[in-house]
Amino acid sequence: MSRKKIVAGNWKMNMTIDESNDLINELKEVSENNVEIKIAPSFTNLYNAISLLTNSGIEVIAQNVHSEKRGAYTGEISTEMLKSIGVNTVIIGHSERRKYFNETDTILSKKVKAAVENSLNVIFCIGEELSERESGNHFDIIKNQLTNALIDLNNIEIKNIVIAYEPVWAIGTGMSANNHQIQEMHEFIRELINKKFGNDIADNIRILYGGSVKPNNAKEIFSLNDVDGGLIGGASLNFSDFHSIINAANG
Ligand code: 13P
Repeated sequence: MSRKKIVAGNWKMNMTIDESNDLINELKEVSENNVEIKIAPSFTNLYNAISLLTNSGIEVIAQNVHSEKRGAYTGEISTEMLKSIGVNTVIIGHSERRKYFNETDTILSKKVKAAVENSLNVIFCIGEELSERESGNHFDIIKNQLTNALIDLNNIEIKNIVIAYEPVWAIGTGMSANNHQIQEMHEFIRELINKKFGNDIADNIRILYGGSVKPNNAKEIFSLNDVDGGLIGGASLNFSDFHSIINAANG
C-alpha cells in the first residue's frame, strides 16, 4: 500500500485578487514529487489561479459547489461551471458550511453525489464539536457524518473521495488534536470504509487531518500511520508556513 500524501490549502474567505496573485507567484515554483499540492481560493480567484498555475505542480480546487446542475439558485455555483474553468476537485462538508450555512447530511450527500456523477473529485470533511468529544460521542458523530454522505456511492465513485478529519475544536484555535486522538480516529474512519467498500478501497483512500496544522507539528502528524496529509487553513495563507508544511509531507 502506498498512498501519496496531499497537502491542501483552504483559503476560506480570504484574499483579494491581488493578494491571491502574490501568494500564487511565490507558490508556483514549488513542486514535490511525493506530495500532491492543492489550493482552494475563493470563487473570484479560481480562474486566475488556474491560469497562473498551468503546468505547475499545484492543483486549484473549489471550496463549495451546489448539487443542482443549473437553474434559479441565486448565488450558487454548479459542477459544470467549475469544470468549465478547469476545476476538478471540490471541498464538501466543511464544518463552517455545516455550522454557518446549515448544510445538513442530506444536503451534503446530494452535493457529493452530484460532484462524483460529474467527475469531480471531492475532499469530504467530517469532524466533531468539542461538546461531542467531551461527552464521548465523537466516534458516533463521525460514523454518522461519513455514512450519511457516502451511503449512495458505489465502489467506483468512492475512488473520487478524499476524507478530511477536522475536529471542529481544533480549527483556527491553534490547538491541534494530539497524535493519539488523530491516529485513532483515522484508523476508525479507514475501518468504516473497509466495512462498506472492502479492504482494497480502504487501503487506498486518503484521509487528511485538518485543524491547526502548523510548521511545528506537521511532520509528526503526517508521520502517523493513517494520516495521508493535511487540510490547512490559516497556515496556507502564508508562503513560508505553507511551504514548510509541504516539505514536512515530502518526508
Ligand atoms: P486551521 O488550519 O486554520 O485550523 O483550519 C483548518 C481548516 O478548517 C481547513 O479546512
